[in-house]
Amino acid sequence: MRIPLLDLKPQYEQIKKEVEEAVKEVLHSGYYILGSNVKALEEEMARYCGTKYAVGVASGTDALRLSLVSLGIGKGDEVITTPFTFVATTEVIVQVGAKPVFVDIEEETFNIDPAKIEEAITERTRAIIPVHLYGQTVEIEPIMRIAKKYNLKVIEDAAQAIGAEYSFKKVGSIGNVGCLSFFPTKNLGGCGDGGMVLTNDEKIAEKIKSLRTHGVKYDYFYSVFGYNSRLDELQAAILRVKLKYLDKWIEMRRQKASLYNELFSSSPSGPSKGVKIPQEAPYARHSYCVYTICTPERERLKEYLEAKGIKTKVYYPLPLHLQRVHKDLGYRKGDFPLAEKASREVLSLPIYPELERDKIELVVKEISNFFLSAKRGNAHAK
Ligand SMILES: Cc1ncc(COP(=O)(O)O)c(C=O)c1O
Repeated sequence: MRIPLLDLKPQYEQIKKEVEEAVKEVLHSGYYILGSNVKALEEEMARYCGTKYAVGVASGTDALRLSLVSLGIGKGDEVITTPFTFVATTEVIVQVGAKPVFVDIEEETFNIDPAKIEEAITERTRAIIPVHLYGQTVEIEPIMRIAKKYNLKVIEDAAQAIGAEYSFKKVGSIGNVGCLSFFPTKNLGGCGDGGMVLTNDEKIAEKIKSLRTHGVKYDYFYSVFGYNSRLDELQAAILRVKLKYLDKWIEMRRQKASLYNELFSSSPSGPSKGVKIPQEAPYARHSYCVYTICTPERERLKEYLEAKGIKTKVYYPLPLHLQRVHKDLGYRKGDFPLAEKASREVLSLPIYPELERDKIELVVKEISNFFLSAKRGNAHAK
């Protein structure tokens, strides 16, 4: 049996008629940029996430970029974030002329450790970007308190965590802005790129709307340079169909994660015996965009599972402070030991709402077999 990391086809099959109808309507409307679907999706997402405003943009990366620009962050400024994230988080900080400053993660959640943020603040610090990695919520309240104390902005990178909650509040709705990604593999994924900025601040929402259309003030009058970064009408129409199912799909992901946890706990490879399973923080409602285990045997286990037809992925094999693109920042190996350990040990297993029980059972069984044969000194035994 081959088990993919993610399979988007069963989801499409369920909603095929609705999606194709929505696409057809857009095609027939002749209105392809910033039409009624983008506007409606913005209203629906704002309602879903509990913010006053939501502005559709071309990608999660652009959601972050336009957020930084709209908050006036640029040359000479410092932005605190985690080294254990996708490169988009820091790429945009550098591209707007600011400097990323890293803070190590918590071992249990893989997210930025709020207790270590204050020591990284300097007179140049302007913002903090906490990243809700894998769908696990950052402990954001202490971060908001620090931001208030030092007059900093908080940009939530919720690209991987649409629908996750911190203390019953949707992620992306707590900071000054929240950034979402509609990349197809995300919990709410389009059929191409897309993203959104959430905010309760009308001025920021207006700035983002201007920035996504070349910095326009009103038709063909500009006071700042902007970008061409709009969410496509076609994507918005598809996402509106999918949004109706999002809570159900997140619940299904949570059930898959519980099943994994349960099976691991009673298997010979369970916690403390071989693999460490993901923990849901007490303040969090994890949305399990990915299900990630940890083991020092990661490389050999990945290879073993691959040979058995089970796809896995490493998000992320090298923390950002050690990437060549960030060598100018002057960080060294050992600077962020928990991010480095996570990079050596994390392994994401197949998860998606429709993943069948027998496939999850097989993944856990094969992982157990790996550890049992490793114990016998023969990890590659078939
Ligand atoms: C943490 C994080 N931030 C930002 C992004 C960028 O989103 P997009 O791919 O929509 O540009 C991603 C995408 O995977 C992400 O995982």
